[in-house]
Amino acid sequence: MGDHDGAYALAPLESLMRIAVLAETDKSEPRVAATPETVKKFIGLGAEIAVQAGAGRASGFSDADYAAAGAKIGASAAETATAADVILRVRRPSGGEIKGAKGGAAVIAILDPFGHESALKELAGAGATAFAMELMPRITRAQSMDVLSSQANIAGYRAVIDAAAEYGRVFPMMMTPAGTVPAARVFIMGVGVAGLQAIATARRLGAIVTATDVRPATKEQVESLGAKFIAVENDEFKQAETSGGYAKEMSAEYQAAQAELVGAHIAKQDIVITTALIPGRPAPKLVSAAQVHAMRAGSVIVDLAAERGGNCELTKPGETVVVDGVKIVGAFNLAGRLASTASALYAKNLLAFVETMISKETKQLAINWDDELVKATCLTRDGAVIDPRFQPKA
Ligand code: NAI
Repeated sequence: MGDHDGAYALAPLESLMRIAVLAETDKSEPRVAATPETVKKFIGLGAEIAVQAGAGRASGFSDADYAAAGAKIGASAAETATAADVILRVRRPSGGEIKGAKGGAAVIAILDPFGHESALKELAGAGATAFAMELMPRITRAQSMDVLSSQANIAGYRAVIDAAAEYGRVFPMMMTPAGTVPAARVFIMGVGVAGLQAIATARRLGAIVTATDVRPATKEQVESLGAKFIAVENDEFKQAETSGGYAKEMSAEYQAAQAELVGAHIAKQDIVITTALIPGRPAPKLVSAAQVHAMRAGSVIVDLAAERGGNCELTKPGETVVVDGVKIVGAFNLAGRLASTASALYAKNLLAFVETMISKETKQLAINWDDELVKATCLTRDGAVIDPRFQPKA
């Protein structure tokens, strides 16, 4: 330091904010919470970053790629998390994995808190300030942080690819010297982010696509993608959307009328892709066993709601089963099957969120507790679970 600094009262040199990227411990999770690209961006924001060895392997990112981007490579979770201000993961880490972090360190992941109160309590006990990315409000400012959308988009695409792979016929109509092959008929049930991408993908492959949803706003979206909308469009349907833009649970009468319409339609389909979810509730059952039996042998159902119990009565979550010649795919984590793309988008979601937590002046972690994004996603703080929905049961 030169003499000219003498006039200033120098603040003690603060160490850099430290971000740790931990490897996933769940063997069925190939995604990773940072990419070499986001590592570079974090360093550009003034942080130092450690990535656990092997964290990106299943997503196609090597330790050397991260090191070249400027990350330190930690041999273990403990080594990587040492003195961290922020810990990034895809899934919720255990309390033990974050032991070495600073007290109050921000742990940011898809926390999956519903029904996992004790795991959350353990995380709180380990000193984490834990943020659930899937609870990010769906407002314009937070669109770049919306992990439900970024991952559902990939899952919707993958569902069609899986369906095409399982189907013993082609998707597009083909006119060949040996004869004409008809186009596949694809029906998408639930037109949220995943459903919209599934429609677009199936259309690109040349299928004849129809779709249904209980939210009236989806009709126009379906038609704008060149697919046909199928639904009972009565008064209940016209009002069936919450202010948050999500689906409501429909009356028994509506469900019966819709089931009849859809049942007749399903019997003529080659592929059915179901994506219907209602936040905080088990997946609605939209395809009955009888409807599966009415489908042609060789047809395929891909049930994207399998993780929440499935939209089809005969779905076996996590498995592919064949019933009367109809294949029902209940695979989990479809986004993870395109781990590189899914990770790249998830890592960007995290970067966008963490960026809001870094002080421009000090380059240190500076959580704004009045920010609605923080309020909506923060579940643990100061050793306790702060969200009343996930308080450990007495
Ligand atoms: P989701 O994953 O919660 O559900 C998927 C779809 O299933 C939804 O379209 C829902 O209406 C439908 N569904 C539920 N019950 C059904 C039934 N019985 N029959 C047929 N379909 C049924 O939805 P996702 O993808 O999370 O999107 C929910 C809403 O959030 C949409 O309106 C979407 O446009 C909106 N959104 C807004 C964003 C923003 O930043 N403003 C970002 C992403 C989504």
